[in-house]
Amino acid sequence: MELKPFSGAYLVHPAAIWRALLGDTDRVHYADDLNLWLISRHADVRNALGDNDAFQNALTLAPVYEMCPEALAIVMKIDAPPTTAAADPPTHPRTRRALRATFPNTAARVDEQFGPIVRKRVDELVSRIAGRRGAVVDLIPEFAAELPLLVVLDILGVPEDDIAQIKRWSDGQIALVWGQPSPDEQVRLAQGLLDFWRYCQDLVARVNHSGHLGSDYISRALRYRDGDDSVLTESEVASLAFNLLVAGHETTSGLLAHCLDYALAIPSRWDGIVADPSIVPGYVEETLRFGPAIDGWLRMTSRDVTIGDVTIPAGARCLLLIGAANRDPAVFAEPDRFDPHRADVRDHVSFGYGPHFCIGAALARLEAQTALTHLAAAVPGLRLTPGHARSYKPNVAFRAHRALTVIVDPVGVHATGEEEVLAA
Ligand code: HEM
Repeated sequence: MELKPFSGAYLVHPAAIWRALLGDTDRVHYADDLNLWLISRHADVRNALGDNDAFQNALTLAPVYEMCPEALAIVMKIDAPPTTAAADPPTHPRTRRALRATFPNTAARVDEQFGPIVRKRVDELVSRIAGRRGAVVDLIPEFAAELPLLVVLDILGVPEDDIAQIKRWSDGQIALVWGQPSPDEQVRLAQGLLDFWRYCQDLVARVNHSGHLGSDYISRALRYRDGDDSVLTESEVASLAFNLLVAGHETTSGLLAHCLDYALAIPSRWDGIVADPSIVPGYVEETLRFGPAIDGWLRMTSRDVTIGDVTIPAGARCLLLIGAANRDPAVFAEPDRFDPHRADVRDHVSFGYGPHFCIGAALARLEAQTALTHLAAAVPGLRLTPGHARSYKPNVAFRAHRALTVIVDPVGVHATGEEEVLAA
């Protein structure tokens, strides 16, 4: 079969493809166009995410196509040691220990340490939007993409002036690895990625040699390392920063975009959030299940793996279809219905599962919940521009909106009964 993620139906309406794959008797499919094995059932995706022996991470951040030699030559100069999503044992248990010790990952600790940053940044952006009464605003660049980036820059202690550059580099990495850029684009994006890595190395070296470690993440990681390379090398601290700067915002931007899209596409839903913000946590969680910001993630088999009647050979790259797993009827009743009240909603695999489970899950939840609650309170009449059509950037992993244009009407009254059928 062919998935055609960059142009076909999958780009527009992935759930129809997930449904077809889940309904097939084969549990695994081979996508000829991508040279990737597709794993779609919830139990199989969860097992692959959790089984680091059979499904390795080493190539998770390697492009899904054959790169042109010029771009490859540049990428080969990026000597970032694997620390997170590209690391396997024996390195990963050690770097994961470092991550867990330095990055808060429970709701309470995240709220205590990052809550003030999140609330400050949300309020700045919300008042900027609320101040543009009657204007048409694209919520992707002006809110969904900007908020998580500002938050992660604050956490890492990165100067705000560098925001545009980091956004360009990080968008570039996502297009370079999981997109389909032309050879000229590959060269440009590869150069950007190399510059980004050098930037992270400089950043860490500057903090390390400043003689003063503060409360930012880089200082915290350097303090944890305490000059001991067997704990973490300076280069690994730079690699953690490199990974967090991308993982910490591109994903959460997607979550915010999906939350806003699903809420505003059905005005009664937005009105429900305005009237009762206590529904927001359930709403965000169901958005994670229904429209995950990362709906496919990569692994490589270390040995032959048999799933149902199909054997995936050793050394094969697999695309774990998180979006499909979250719609598996074996786990979720009426999976194509958006239901913020599902009791089992947290069984989604949008933050992964097992040894690489997302370290930023609690932060992402806090950002999305705060953003939605404060925006709904400040602009209860917010509504999509008439005729708004959903459209995503071509990518096999990140499902990112191209635009989400709204009219900023602080008190507008929604027309009643205009329920759009959500792209199920
Ligand atoms: C909605 C938002 C987010 C989504 C959907 C998401 C998704 C994921 C997924 C699927 C993984 C598993 C990777 C694997 O198994 O190979 C992961 C890992 C990771 N995430 Fe997130 N993430 C989000 C937000 C964040 C944030 C806010 C941060 C940090 C500021 C973050 C940092 C990381 C890191 C460092 C890892 C690698 C952990 C490891 O390999 O041990 N993520 N994330």
